[in-house]
Amino acid sequence: MPDSLLRVLTCGSVDDGKSSLIGRLLFECGTVPDDVMRTLVRDSRRFGTVKGRVDYALLVDGLAAEREQGITIDVAYRYFQTDRRRFILADTPGHEQYTRNMASGASNADIAILLVDARKGVLQQTRRHATVAAMFGISHFILAVNKMDLVGFDRAVYEEITEDFITFSENFGTVRTTSIPICARDGDNITARSAHMPWYMGPALLEALERAEPRDHGRSGPFRMHVQGVIRAGADFRGYTGTISSGSVRCGARITNVISRVSAQVERIVTMDGDLETGHAGDAVTLVLRPEIDISRGDVLSDSPLPQIGDRLAAQVMWFDDAPLIQGRDYLFMFRGRVVGGSVSDITHRLDIDTRGEIPARELRINEVGHVTISLAQPVVFEPYRLAPDLGSAIIIDRMTRNTVGAALIERADQASNLHAQHLDIDKHARAALKGQRPAVLWFTGLSGAGKSTVANLVEGRLHMLGRHTMMLDGDNVRQGLNRDLGFNEADRVENIRRIAEVAKLFVDAGLIVLVSFISPYRAERMLARERVQEGEFIEIHVDTPIEECRRRDPKGLYAKAYAGQIRNFTGVDAPYEEPEDPEIHLQTIGRAAEALAEQIIRELRVRGIID
Ligand code: ADX
Repeated sequence: MPDSLLRVLTCGSVDDGKSSLIGRLLFECGTVPDDVMRTLVRDSRRFGTVKGRVDYALLVDGLAAEREQGITIDVAYRYFQTDRRRFILADTPGHEQYTRNMASGASNADIAILLVDARKGVLQQTRRHATVAAMFGISHFILAVNKMDLVGFDRAVYEEITEDFITFSENFGTVRTTSIPICARDGDNITARSAHMPWYMGPALLEALERAEPRDHGRSGPFRMHVQGVIRAGADFRGYTGTISSGSVRCGARITNVISRVSAQVERIVTMDGDLETGHAGDAVTLVLRPEIDISRGDVLSDSPLPQIGDRLAAQVMWFDDAPLIQGRDYLFMFRGRVVGGSVSDITHRLDIDTRGEIPARELRINEVGHVTISLAQPVVFEPYRLAPDLGSAIIIDRMTRNTVGAALIERADQASNLHAQHLDIDKHARAALKGQRPAVLWFTGLSGAGKSTVANLVEGRLHMLGRHTMMLDGDNVRQGLNRDLGFNEADRVENIRRIAEVAKLFVDAGLIVLVSFISPYRAERMLARERVQEGEFIEIHVDTPIEECRRRDPKGLYAKAYAGQIRNFTGVDAPYEEPEDPEIHLQTIGRAAEALAEQIIRELRVRGIID
């Protein structure tokens, strides 16, 4: 059995003939069992699109649902082999919304086949797939110009498409393109050179695949391992388990815990099959160190040069979600072995997939790629993606839906990563102690006209009388000063609340009880505000007034205008309000006087020990 393995990513549009190509490869390489072949012949009669012949696409589009729709809907891995090599094909769908699957296929692949229809040439979809593949480190493309029969096997057509793609691919830096004119349905230039295109001197597709260099995947780099667990057995065995992500490590080598900068010597490299003298990238090992140093799950062990540590990273982000990425919104960033909160604090620009030009942007929509700055809540160990894919990439997760919404490829530390927290002698506790109080944020959220400001005003009056030091942040007021530059679309509201969350934190650091009265319609940003302060310091107060009642009260006449279409993006009318799921205080306002509501809050603050 040949032991060299090549992972191949196949991408193309739905109608480019990708299924036929894969079916053809599987068929020619003899991996189609007899019974499957019989079914194929039968199915070709029923569903086939190739009259009177076997339709190889049906071999690939296995699912009934797919057959009915005539499309491919999932990622699938397929295996075949020749005398010279084994292959794993990652087949990803050609629809735009499934770019996410493509990304996961691309990160493992050695080479990508980009299929184009000779009649259509290089489409935006082709450019998008090439961009994702290149982003994920693929540097060798096979441009398979398919359906050559439909353009009369015309050399000029093939050459024009090849030129077009090569010009585009120059944007990616050093990538190689092997362009092959084919007809997948009839097998031209698939396993052997086609007699229909004597002008083509290059290899047939299979030959090109047999010859392609596998990708290095960082194996030759310095030693890096994420610690997945700590194993203790008996009194004297302590080992750190993980899979070596790059480089190799031998017994006796000195390695360092990157975060703590403490070093130790490797005493043993234990595996399921006994001890190793040297462990290599891809090996699952347990390292025993001498002396024992402090290491926990999620730490990175490394030899020098050490990877970097930073909390501000310049990165390329590819967005997968229907809801756009919004600058300033908090997401989870899942690095290999570690999840940290953070946001895209700045979108430097978005990439035009066609021209690779840079377009200014404040959000990234589905399938868009942008250059951004990521600001993380805690520093992480990282390396540029091009040097070490494992340490240089993160998946972006929506905090509310838990969906994977994007992928980030780290380019370098942002300059702001060099900012260091300045130690201050007088801290929050000292400031609060002088005032004889516990600092807190009372965060009032609810629809416009719900009564937030009225109740917050009364509460502040009561606290003031009780000798408490307070500060009030009210949406209408702050929007006339600090946030004068912001409107009411989603991105501006996210930024509005982000700034207020930071300001509220500063006032908490000043030792104050801060009353915040903003609609704050999104759960994600209220959660962000909560996380800015310590546990127990954040009191979310849902001022719950049904929209019909707010509309009836309409203190500023804004509902009338919103329903008349004179104001856009009005909360509750044509912009969302996400109700708190578990607020500390839930105020139902209907039929209750503002004074009684304020009293309820004061009582609750006593119970929670904010005031006595
Ligand atoms: S938030 O949604 O970004 O939190 P914020 O509390 O700062 O809103 O501002 C809300 C105030 O702005 C409302 O009380 C209202 O007076 C005014 N306003 C003007 N336009 C709108 C709008 N489209 N939606 C909601 N409030 C608006």
